[in-house]
Amino acid sequence: MTNPYLQLEGISKKFGQFIALGGIYLEIEQGEFICLLGPSGCGKTTLLRIIAGLEQQDQGVIIQGGKDISRLPAVRRDFGIVFQSYALFPNLTAAQNIAFGLQNLKKSPVETRRRTEELLDLVGLPSHGHHYPSQLSGGQQQRVALARAIALSPGLLLLDEPLSALDAQVRVSLRQEIRQLQRRVGITTIMVTHDQIEALTMADRIAVMNRGVIEQLASPSQVYRHPTTHFVGSFIGAMSFLPAIVKGIGWADCCGYGIRLHDVPVPAGNPIQLAIRPEDVRLAETHAMGDNIVKARVKGIEYLGAMERVTMGLHSPSGVTPDGKEREVLWMDLPASVSRDLNISVGELLSIHLPMDSIRVFAREGT
Ligand SMILES: Nc1ncnc2c1ncn2[C@@H]1O[C@H](COP(=O)(O)OP(=O)(O)OP(=O)(O)O)[C@@H](O)[C@H]1O
Ligand SMILES: [Mg+2]
Repeated sequence: MTNPYLQLEGISKKFGQFIALGGIYLEIEQGEFICLLGPSGCGKTTLLRIIAGLEQQDQGVIIQGGKDISRLPAVRRDFGIVFQSYALFPNLTAAQNIAFGLQNLKKSPVETRRRTEELLDLVGLPSHGHHYPSQLSGGQQQRVALARAIALSPGLLLLDEPLSALDAQVRVSLRQEIRQLQRRVGITTIMVTHDQIEALTMADRIAVMNRGVIEQLASPSQVYRHPTTHFVGSFIGAMSFLPAIVKGIGWADCCGYGIRLHDVPVPAGNPIQLAIRPEDVRLAETHAMGDNIVKARVKGIEYLGAMERVTMGLHSPSGVTPDGKEREVLWMDLPASVSRDLNISVGELLSIHLPMDSIRVFAREGT
């Protein structure tokens, strides 16, 4: 990136002995929509608050629009923020909430009214200006909060789980609305979420965080198709992990089955983990043999609406897996119509194809 709008260089933060952020590096382009995605407690809110100046980092530099803002107080930074809870002033109407910051800037009443109306329009509430927060639904309140956050046309929009308090349907529609609005306004945005679907559908790039660090920073499809760590693979979507030993260039042994692989990160003799998404696992002909064909016993079938997820235990050719049981779990997703025709039942032994292109390989410590 030649000229990033926001640069975080080695941001770290401790609370007592607890390391909340362990050195965050992130460059964000002008107009980009970035999601910080990770489990509870991984440091997402802390990082957002540090960017806003609501929390002070122990180390690291923040550069926004070419200017070092590392030590600037929040009031002198250029951002708008929306929190999970609506945080509107309950005694002010929607229009007054939006106009609040404009009035502080001593804009003329005419100009303030014009801008407020424009913002109400932008968030799809042209006729709700006179409503108080208690007269608005949760989704409408979040739209007002959004309008208030962008009222002063800040350079940076910070969103901390803005949708998580809303019901599922409202969440889906607001997801799209926020993204459209962000594109229209062209504002550089960082949104915190622990909802993978939200991140996958909204972000230009996702920063997947775990225990105070960014484990992977990439586009949604890259993060989903090519997770670079076990954590990323298992946090986003479902993924089966199978133990294997490298046997040579481009192949490994997995519980007695020969598996062809594209990239193997370690030399022969080393333990690795094979990872595959349920939708990439294929049913093979009953008596199929050869590379990347394994046998697995059906343990359960879960109905997911359009899909059915078949949970299987990997069956070793010698009759036993390393600990004598069909322990290694493999998931396969089948379209419900296919699954109905096949009439698979629990206890059945299936031949399964693990396509080479769909297998990710991770290093594994110990055996
Ligand atoms: N002011 C504080 N004092 C002490 N510990 C804190 C403080 N703020 C945050 N922490 C701790 O730092 C860690 C990261 O907190 P943070 O709020 O950033 O997590 P998060 O990723 O936003 O989680 P969630 O998804 O639950 O909101 C947590 O373990 C939290 O308890
Ligand atoms: Mg948080």
